[in-house]
Amino acid sequence: MASLTIRKLDEGVKTYLRLRSAKNRRSVEEEVRVILRELIEGREEPLTPFAAPPAASPAPPSPRTGAVAEASVTLIIGGGIAAYKSLDLIRRLKERRVDVRCVLTKAAQQFVTPLAASALSHERVYTDLFDPQSEFDAGHIRLARDCDLIVVAPATADLMAKMACGHADDLASAILLATNRKILLAPAMNPLMWNNAATRRNVAQLQRDGVVMIGPNAGEMAEAGEAGVGRMSEAIEIAVAAERLLRPPVPRPLAGKRVLITAGPTHEPIDPVRYIANRSSGKQGFAIAAAAQAAGAEVILVSGPVDLNDPDGVTVKHVESARQMLEHVQASLPVDIAIFAAAVADWRVANEGEQKLKKTSAGMPPLQLVENPDILATISKLSDKRPPLVIGFAAETEHLIDNAKAKLARKGCDWIVANDVSPATGVMGGDRNTVHLLSRKSGGEDGEIAVDSWPVMTKEQVATELIAHVVKSVADKSLEPAS
Ligand code: C5P
Repeated sequence: MASLTIRKLDEGVKTYLRLRSAKNRRSVEEEVRVILRELIEGREEPLTPFAAPPAASPAPPSPRTGAVAEASVTLIIGGGIAAYKSLDLIRRLKERRVDVRCVLTKAAQQFVTPLAASALSHERVYTDLFDPQSEFDAGHIRLARDCDLIVVAPATADLMAKMACGHADDLASAILLATNRKILLAPAMNPLMWNNAATRRNVAQLQRDGVVMIGPNAGEMAEAGEAGVGRMSEAIEIAVAAERLLRPPVPRPLAGKRVLITAGPTHEPIDPVRYIANRSSGKQGFAIAAAAQAAGAEVILVSGPVDLNDPDGVTVKHVESARQMLEHVQASLPVDIAIFAAAVADWRVANEGEQKLKKTSAGMPPLQLVENPDILATISKLSDKRPPLVIGFAAETEHLIDNAKAKLARKGCDWIVANDVSPATGVMGGDRNTVHLLSRKSGGEDGEIAVDSWPVMTKEQVATELIAHVVKSVADKSLEPAS
């Protein structure tokens, strides 16, 4: 099977993939897989930038469709020729994992039938305020409140006038008066009605009341020979607007940035079955990878052997030794930000046994150690492809700040995250960390170092805080994206 190197694609394609994957909270590779799968399955491009991210706590599957609904909409269909588009809107919303309950006004039923709306929504359709079946327990109140959003499409001039004045003489207007949910209107009417002073007043009033509107668009009217502003927005436009209200975009300040992170220990082989290792769990590095991913970055995590699940949406390269780690780090360049959280073994065995070393009467086999490459220093000192922001870690058991300051200078990185790993702190393998962020003072004397000491936090909190500092630095320096 041929393999595809994303970095070798056209600039325009890469930019599109980065933005789309960042928006959908996936790695670029994962996004390419999704695009290919959709293509092969013959699905329509569903996407808006706000494709459903995985739900934090999954909603129960919708009984009819089996799909997991993430939001629900009460869709009020008003009486106008554009009502036929609302049937398509039901489908568009359901594609986006939104449950839809339809309310048809009396006039709407002249254009579409409750049966059609029910078949598409897989739900009962509501038409009457005085329906004993649904009103025995104040059904209009439930329709008004047991949803995340109310959409009115088409919103006729008459419905908008009723809303602006607070009428409640049918099911639709009663729901609109009784709701405490956001309302999205998709007006549709003849251009003269849209431009009429009464409608203008009503539109202005509804906007003051916090009602959101989409459209109307300009174009041909259903009435022969008439054109102007008054056509209802297309179903897909309304669905996208609804989705934006249901799932406001999460801030993604690192969208378009590539972040490289190392994590965990390394294992340096003595022979085929033994190795030298350290107690690093990889938790801090993995938490940083997840935080960078949540901030919208494309994240590459190069991890030594750990007992952790790969973070969602992150490209993870699993390695054993320091030399393999360096190799993968170098292959991942260029990146915008590199964070070296791995506890890389300083030494490896020079005379690694090809077979398992045996006990002999001659005593212990001598183990000769040689120094491993220093990944952080190597990358910090690159003249070409040096990431604009390089962050190292200093795990010390004594003289924490002094040792960390010396490390910042020696390794040539931009920041050092220093933490005390003496056994009494329980940091190695534990869930909490107390760190100090050391950075070169901007505008200060040459070599002056700022020390920012953070309180004891969970490793996730440290990761979030570190990424917040990265975001600020990226914004201040407006780093050019890596290419
Ligand atoms: O020299 P020391 O191991 O204390 O330095 C710690 C920092 O250097 C960490 O950021 C670690 O990931 C990085 N490092 C490295 N390669 C090494 C040793 C340390 O990248 N061989």
